[in-house]
Amino acid sequence: MSYLEATNDLYKEAALTPDVGLCCTTNPIWQFPGLSIPKIMQEMNYGCGSTVSAQDLVNNPKVLYVGVGGGMELLQFSYFSRQKGGVTGVDVVDEMLEASKQNFKLAEEENDWFKSEFVNLVKGDALNLPVEDESIDVAAQNCLFNIFKTEDLKKAISEMYRVLKPHGRLVMSDPTCEQPMNETLRNDDSLRALCLSGSIPIKDYVKALTDAGFGTIEIRSRKSYRVLSPNHYPTDELVFIESIEIAAIKDPMPKDGPCIFTGKTAIYYGDEEYFDDNAGHVLMQNQPLAICDKTARQLAQASDQIHISESTWHYNGGGCC
Ligand SMILES: C[S@@+](CC[C@H](N)C(=O)[O-])C[C@H]1O[C@@H](n2cnc3c(N)ncnc32)[C@H](O)[C@@H]1O
Repeated sequence: MSYLEATNDLYKEAALTPDVGLCCTTNPIWQFPGLSIPKIMQEMNYGCGSTVSAQDLVNNPKVLYVGVGGGMELLQFSYFSRQKGGVTGVDVVDEMLEASKQNFKLAEEENDWFKSEFVNLVKGDALNLPVEDESIDVAAQNCLFNIFKTEDLKKAISEMYRVLKPHGRLVMSDPTCEQPMNETLRNDDSLRALCLSGSIPIKDYVKALTDAGFGTIEIRSRKSYRVLSPNHYPTDELVFIESIEIAAIKDPMPKDGPCIFTGKTAIYYGDEEYFDDNAGHVLMQNQPLAICDKTARQLAQASDQIHISESTWHYNGGGCC
């Protein structure tokens, strides 16, 4: 059995018998005014962080969600889009599609603004999306891509890139891990399917996105997620897993490389009213400016009167590029 088949089996079981402890979230469940999330959807929350941010959801975006789980994030996306077929949900597991369909009926009973027809559920594979080119404004996945091995991850990202409109956004939440993992962990299909042994370092995750062509990357959150310890897992050392929320924007690739925002800020503290690097960045005296890592490197070279913060890994918009 391949690891992809093992993954399908695990999520078929998780659809038929919801398992509250299957995954653990790093976020509280977002409760918006007038939104009631059915209990079963909360129990079937098989993601880590959140992919739903109001800032991405202006102007009635067409949303694609890959790997639907119990449907909670699709309901949250529908809260913003509120239109027939506004959110398309794709999943490869029939039982998961059926479970989420039933959950949307409950959501309809609990929310007078919601109609099941807001969500279009489609059987399909993240590696070969049944979605037209350049038809989507916001594409999302939560805790699916970390399961994929290198070549499959590349394919899944290129599929998301293909279906997004220019400037469309791929919003994701996934476990990451900065340490090497031993082969026993890596090759354990069950741990991989459980989002415990497939995760890769943030820089490799980001590179997979920029290699696909995404010109802007935003790391919006980074939190501790799990510890794989020798008393519970086949490892001699503690392995620390984190969870990130990340957006990849289908902006054209800048000539000098991608803009990767990791939560750095620049502050000019010289005597002039402002500092202009003549490359498009103007820093008013003692005013913070969010900057991407590339601009951080350039500004550090340009003046010794600019404070550049460390990456906070919490970027939420605005700034240099
Ligand atoms: C870890 S769960 C995450 C569910 C949901 N995103 C959440 O946050 O609760 C992974 C989901 O991806 C689905 N899935 C697994 N392999 C897939 C594939 N190749 N293509 C599309 N969906 C897949 C599973 O059925 C399951 O719904």
